[in-house]
This record gives sequence, C-alpha cells and structure tokens, in this order.
Amino acid sequence: MIRHEEAVKKATASIHQIKEEVDTNHWRPQYHVAAPAYWINDPNGFSFYNGEYHLFYQHHPYSALWGPMHWGHVKSKDLTTWEHLPVALAPSEEYDKDGCFSGSAIEKDGKLYLMYTGHIWTGENHDTDLEQVQCLAVSDDGVNFKKLANNPVIGAAPDGDIHPNHIRDPKVWKRGDEYYCVIGNRTKDESGQVLLYRSSNLLEWEFVNVAAKGEGNFGFMWECPDLFYLDGCDVLVMSPQGMEPANDLYLNLHQSGYVIGQLDYETGKLDHGSFKLLDYGFDFYAPQTTIDNQGRRVMIAWMAMWESEMPEQEFNWAGAMTLPRQLFIQDGKIICKPMPEVESLRNEKTVVFENVLIDGEKILDGVSGDCLELDVTFNAKESSMFGLKVRVNKEQGEETVVQYDVEEGFLTLDRNKTGKGLDGIRKAPVELKNHELHLRIFIDKSSIEVFINGGEKVMTSRLYPGQASTGIEFFTDGTALIKKLKKWGLRKSIGEELVHSSAAV
Ligand code: FRU
Repeated sequence: MIRHEEAVKKATASIHQIKEEVDTNHWRPQYHVAAPAYWINDPNGFSFYNGEYHLFYQHHPYSALWGPMHWGHVKSKDLTTWEHLPVALAPSEEYDKDGCFSGSAIEKDGKLYLMYTGHIWTGENHDTDLEQVQCLAVSDDGVNFKKLANNPVIGAAPDGDIHPNHIRDPKVWKRGDEYYCVIGNRTKDESGQVLLYRSSNLLEWEFVNVAAKGEGNFGFMWECPDLFYLDGCDVLVMSPQGMEPANDLYLNLHQSGYVIGQLDYETGKLDHGSFKLLDYGFDFYAPQTTIDNQGRRVMIAWMAMWESEMPEQEFNWAGAMTLPRQLFIQDGKIICKPMPEVESLRNEKTVVFENVLIDGEKILDGVSGDCLELDVTFNAKESSMFGLKVRVNKEQGEETVVQYDVEEGFLTLDRNKTGKGLDGIRKAPVELKNHELHLRIFIDKSSIEVFINGGEKVMTSRLYPGQASTGIEFFTDGTALIKKLKKWGLRKSIGEELVHSSAAV
C-alpha cells in the first residue's frame, strides 16, 4: 500500500510542476473540466458523496499522450466550480501494474469505494496480449484511496461466449440490499456485449448473465457501460467500438449511445429497443452518469475521440470533459439538457435581440467571443438554409459553421475551416417546430456544444481556432428571422490549485 501512496505522490508532483505553464495556453477550457496538465480520457467514478460531486478521470500524469492510466480527481459542490484534488489512483500492484483503467464509484458505510479495472500487458500485441481484472479502492475522506488487500474482486472471466481478456470498465450501483455492476466485454468472435454481476457486500461478486449484446452493426467491443433507472425505464449506455458508418451516422471512430428497456434482475437479461446516439458531434465518448441528492441523472463524457488530432498536446495537455448534462426520457428517447447550475456561469449583462430579420449575412452588436453561451430561436421564414458561424476570423479565413437545411431536415456542424488540425462535418436529423429551431450553444476556448430543440439532440466538438477568432455571424439564403437571441459571457470556473492535497508537494 505504501507503493500506492508513493506512486500517487509522484504523479501529483509531476502535474504540480507544470500546471502553471500549461494554464497559459489559449485553448485551455475555462468552464469544462480538464486535468491541470497532461493527458485525460474517460470520466470515472462520477458520484455524489458527502454533499459534493466527485469526478475522476483516466489520466496519464507524465505526458500529453495516453500511457499507464491513473485516476485524476476533481470535486464540486454545484457542478460548475471544480476544485482539483491529488491523483486518486496510480498503478502500483501486480494486478494493475500497467494501468488503473475506467470504472465507477459508490458509497458504502460512509466510505467512498472506487471500482476499476486493473490492466496488465502480457506481450507486444495490444489487442491480444492483455489481462483485465476488477478491483476496489476505498477512502474515508474522498481524497486518499487505499487499494483493497483482497483485490482483484472479480478475477478470471466466466465460461461461455465471453472474451477472457477484454473485460473492463465496471459501473456499480445498489438496488435494495444488493450491489450490481455491468462490465464491458466482447464475444469470442468479436461482438460487443455487457456482463451483469451481483454482490451482497461489494467484495464478493457472482456473474449473473450477459445483459445485452450487439446484433448486426453494433461494434466489436462495448466499452464503458452504464445501467440506470430513469423515468420508469432501465437505460443501458455504452460505447461501441467499430460500428460501421451508416449514411450520415456513426462517422466517428467509436460511438456512444444507449438502449432503453427493462432489466430482469433474476435472469440478468435486458429486454430493450434500438440503439440511439447520445451526441451527434465529433467529440463525445465514454459517458458516465450519476444520481445526485435531488434524484437527477447527470451525465459527463470525454470531449475528445480516440485517434483524433489533439493540437493542445503541443502545450502539454490533452482532453477535456463535456458540460454536465441532465438526462430525461421523452417519447421513448433520451434528451440531454445542460444542468441548470450552468446558468450560474453567466457573468456579464445579458445581450438580447428580438425579431431581427436576416437577409444574407448579419452581425449583431455585442454578440461575439470565445467563452460564452448563446440561446437563439430562429424562424425559417423564407429560407431553405440558415444558421450561424462562430469563432470567425475573416483575415485568417477561420469559422465554425452551424447550419440548418430545411429540405434535408439536418443540422450540420462544419469544422473544415475551424482552425488548427481538424476537419469534417457531422449531421443531426432535426425537425423544425412551427418553422422554428431553438439552439443553446456553449462555446469555450477550444470547444462547442450545441443543444438542439431543448436537448432532443446535441452536437459536441473540439475546435482549435486562433485567439483572435471571436466573431459570430448569422446567415441565410433567403430571409430568416432571429425571433429571440440571448448571449452571456461565461466565467472561468475550473480551479487551478491542488488543494486538500496531503499527497501534493
Ligand atoms: C474507453 C477506454 C476504456 C478503458 C480506458 C483506458 O475510452 O478504452 O475501455 O478502460 O479507455 O484508458
């Protein structure tokens, strides 16, 4: 256990040393969680403990590239102001020597338990030469974690059509007196699936069943499953790797989505409907949810994508989290809204416009910036195409385009001229309601999140424009109306100090 303490101390010190320099980079998010320095991927251990939200994340605290995985850690009282804490988990034992992979958190007897995947490489081939087991670490204070002596708590995979090596990302929850967890897996012939386990004490687990598995175009592996009860249904969220593109959908390297159904807790089978995406943009992966003391289901995802270009790596950091989003079920589908607390980020007087006719192109006084929220309702009127460009810089030819095509019925996010590195377009099928389109757009220094028609669809993307690219322009091919527009500047809310850091140096 001393080994673990030392590994945590060393990792925290590594971050501490460079964080100030990293924070001078102009792409650093102001109100999205990112590590103080270096690489992050999946959100982990998202939980509400002792009146605070805790969010951990996959973290490599020694470079801006993926490497032996640690768990970084932030906490918040209100889901908007986040405080950095010392690294929570570091590889230190035989069973996790090459990484503490993704997992979740749960409170038991006043203590916070992290359930994660211990990962080891057994050879050179990263697809076949690996072993993964499920482990626990526990904390009395929500900051310092000790790995359990009886790890791994779930060892070898059960018999059956279950791949013995790719078995990871436990998401744990409690129902009545029993604990359950779902674990990501694949069949032996490479079809994604999710395993369900049960425990009476969190320490000893029995395999119940394969809760769900892919049929047809559902990918070769399901990562980061999450199963929860929402508005009368059981929802399984998962991140399938390797789904083939289908028309305008599934164009990212990997997808994240959900199915809705009913879990039979006796048989361990989930009876469910069809797969749907949780986000239609470029950068959204491995979402994880928690439930808070108000009974709200809150989701955060990694705002990046495997194998994407990440221009911020040059500045010793990589990756950020999405805004926290509240989930609801409406007409058999999940809708995602920014948490209401996000409104507390608004720090300027509101800029308001009403009934502005757009005829060609239009710029509005006071509507510009690189860290802001826009709430805009368009009326399509006499147009077949309308929208807005953000992060515009005419001289540099930079712009990120959000465009609605009336006939096609698609909202398009175009980052071909967005700035450094990235390109491509993504489309979300969207219907106008009484010729109207409502967009709530969050722009941070290197990201955009577009919540469409009250969260029916969301499009999320990283962007790497120049610092001077702050323009916003509205456009249409005929005439369209901005029925109502509100704009707010947003404040910086991600802490920079490693506080409460008994392990910090
Ligand atoms: C998902 C994932 C998980 C794994 C982790 C490793 O992005 O591949 O399956 O636990 O990242 O960092």
